[in-house]
Amino acid sequence: MPDTLPPTLPDYMSRAATGLAPDLAAYFLSGAGGGAAEEANGGDLARVTLRPRALRDMRGGHTRLDLLGRTLNHPVIVAPFAYQTLLTPEGEVATARGAEAQGALMVLSAQSTRAMADVRAAGATCMWFQLYWQSTLANTLALAERAANAGFSALILTVDAPVQGVRDAEIRSGFRLSQCHRAINLDGIPQPAFAPLREGESLLFDRVAHVLPDWKDIAAFCRDAPLPVILKGIMTGEDARDAVACGAAGLVVSNHGGRVLEALPSTISVLPEVVRAVDGAVPVLMDGGIRRGWDVFRALALGARAVLVGRPAACGLSVAGALGVSHVLRLLRDELESTMLLTGCRTLAEITRDRVRAPF
Ligand code: FNR
Repeated sequence: MPDTLPPTLPDYMSRAATGLAPDLAAYFLSGAGGGAAEEANGGDLARVTLRPRALRDMRGGHTRLDLLGRTLNHPVIVAPFAYQTLLTPEGEVATARGAEAQGALMVLSAQSTRAMADVRAAGATCMWFQLYWQSTLANTLALAERAANAGFSALILTVDAPVQGVRDAEIRSGFRLSQCHRAINLDGIPQPAFAPLREGESLLFDRVAHVLPDWKDIAAFCRDAPLPVILKGIMTGEDARDAVACGAAGLVVSNHGGRVLEALPSTISVLPEVVRAVDGAVPVLMDGGIRRGWDVFRALALGARAVLVGRPAACGLSVAGALGVSHVLRLLRDELESTMLLTGCRTLAEITRDRVRAPF
């Protein structure tokens, strides 16, 4: 535990970047390819400027919102991120305690290194479970049932990373996952074993593609899953419409924090297209590059109901464990509140499109 907590979120980010071993910094902080999509997330958020209104009555203001039948104190959610015991031995349990201290919703990654029941027990506030497609509908439903039995209240199915992204910094650093940091909640869920490739065969098209889902599978999963299903990784209006038609209870506009494909656009730049396509049918969330309270405001003004933060939570965890996660969330909430006061928005519903100037 550090003697003093970093005063701002950028200080958490730089302290984590210098404090972590180079291979861990590369795994947790770098983006796909040379990092352009990750940089675009933050760069494009900064292109959205605010249109403040002065002298409005701010009494009774708050940051509460309703999301899938729950009331949350504020719209900053801890994004699912993998292998947290790499950052601190308590891993996801510490993140849950940090989120709980701020009444924040947390999403637990399927690649959690701590048992889902232990994580759930550490955070009484609403918690969602994130999963990837597990080769077949039956396997994916089996994992979903485990999450429902452990007390999670919704599922996030991530659809934007059917294969691993190529991250230059991670490759250069020689990052390797050791067996003591494994995705223990997947134990007993059959993982595909691929036959050896014959001459001229492609691993991705001739093997992996056979166990990937399509929209029919997603519709079946949404129909049969024991909890509401939110699809994460939607980046176009077309996919947004298909997701709603398949029965998704919500969407997350996400490019996986720019970790899967360097040539993707920023999430803030595609958010309005997705929000238009969904037309209020289900809540649209967004993540990618949220680093300050005014970034939360920017995303809400362009139509996001709430935002998720990945690397900020990871940096909080790495620098100061549960306290760091809690502090990072508190900083974001305090900055959001002051941004609302400074722009004349009493509630999140008042953070509307006309409160910003945006090129998107
Ligand atoms: C992730 N992300 C992620 N997403 C997911 O659905 N399942 C996962 O297991 C992971 N794992 C993961 C590991 C690490 C180290 C990072 C940084 C991210 C993506 C995550 O949920 C989220 O979409 C992004 O992190 C959001 O961008 P920011 O906030 O990191 O800029």
